[in-house]
Amino acid sequence: MNRRDPLGGLTVLGIETSCDETAVAVVGDRPHPLIQANLIHSQLAEHAPYGGVVPEIAARAHLDHIDGLVRRALDEAEITIDRLDGIAAAAGPGLIGGLIVGSMAAKGLAWAARKPYIAVNHLEAHALAARLSPGIEFPYLLLLVSGGHTQLLVCAGVGNYRQLGASRDDAAGEAFDKSAKLLGLGYPGGPAIERAAHGGNPRRFALPRPLKGRSGCDFSFSGLKTAVRQTIIDAGPFGPPQVADLAAAIELAICDTLIDRTANALAWFRRHYPAGRSLVAAGGVAANRRLREHLAGLAASNGLAFVAPPPELCTDNGAMIAWAGLERLRLGLVDGLDAPVRPRWPLDSAVAAVAEKARAS
Ligand code: KG4
Ligand code: ZN
Repeated sequence: MNRRDPLGGLTVLGIETSCDETAVAVVGDRPHPLIQANLIHSQLAEHAPYGGVVPEIAARAHLDHIDGLVRRALDEAEITIDRLDGIAAAAGPGLIGGLIVGSMAAKGLAWAARKPYIAVNHLEAHALAARLSPGIEFPYLLLLVSGGHTQLLVCAGVGNYRQLGASRDDAAGEAFDKSAKLLGLGYPGGPAIERAAHGGNPRRFALPRPLKGRSGCDFSFSGLKTAVRQTIIDAGPFGPPQVADLAAAIELAICDTLIDRTANALAWFRRHYPAGRSLVAAGGVAANRRLREHLAGLAASNGLAFVAPPPELCTDNGAMIAWAGLERLRLGLVDGLDAPVRPRWPLDSAVAAVAEKARAS
């Protein structure tokens, strides 16, 4: 049985392989965004012995799992390939081996089934994930916080992003991951620190909040790991209570910095986009409960709604790739089978590509 809506909604299969998750999803859009299948194979166990993601191991693991996940996603969505409207894959930014595996799988399916292929920017997929909840309209202010990126962006439309600020050094997720490593908490560091911080006293150890109180919307996190390292050395014997307190201090320092810069961006956003109604958070770090609470408070005090996808749609997943593919397909923004993968692909150049297509059409 096919679930595809006869009234003409779109259904897209999305593949995510840009880092260490192999993920495949099927998403439709009628009457509302609907995730019909969303499968993920985490490679955590494969990378754990190395304390971080090993690109070659990641690429090989993607290759091992991708076909099975595609088959299972189609089964779960109760749809056959011929009834899909498009096939999307994360084509960048990310680790090149994984990107090649995912995009080649998507291109192969698109070619065999004669369906459009959509090369999705992974950052755009995070940016649009909030729109999987009905009623999130452009423009909105986005705090995009992941393992590789920390940015404040105005999302004015699909392919229409304006960066207000970004990290000058480490991403927020990297700050969590590096601090967790120093504390011996394992990878990924964000969830580990969130767990360890439970019940800890965030005021016992003083950590820096780089750029806090300064104008602008840029971030800096590299000083934090140096301070964490020094704190551990200075504190002497370090047992579970100290770990909890330092984890809480790290979480609070990162949240404070993110909130301070977001407040500046929000002031600017409200002046320049008075029609904007929402502050949106996305990316793996947006799964953090303390950060979500702080952002919700900031949004409320500015008369805006705070929207963040459920935690499992903040971290890397296939549904956000399928959804971004669907949003682009709706606008006719599809790609040729010769479209390259792009290990570096800032959202700004996605803007440029859309502008180029618009000029050409
Ligand atoms: O978006 P994502 O899954 O992958 C990238 O595109 O980078 O983000 C992964 C990052 C990692 O740095 C991880 O430690 C962080 O998100 N993260 C969290 C939490 N869950 C994941 N950081 C803080 N709190 C969390 N609950
Ligand atoms: Zn991501």
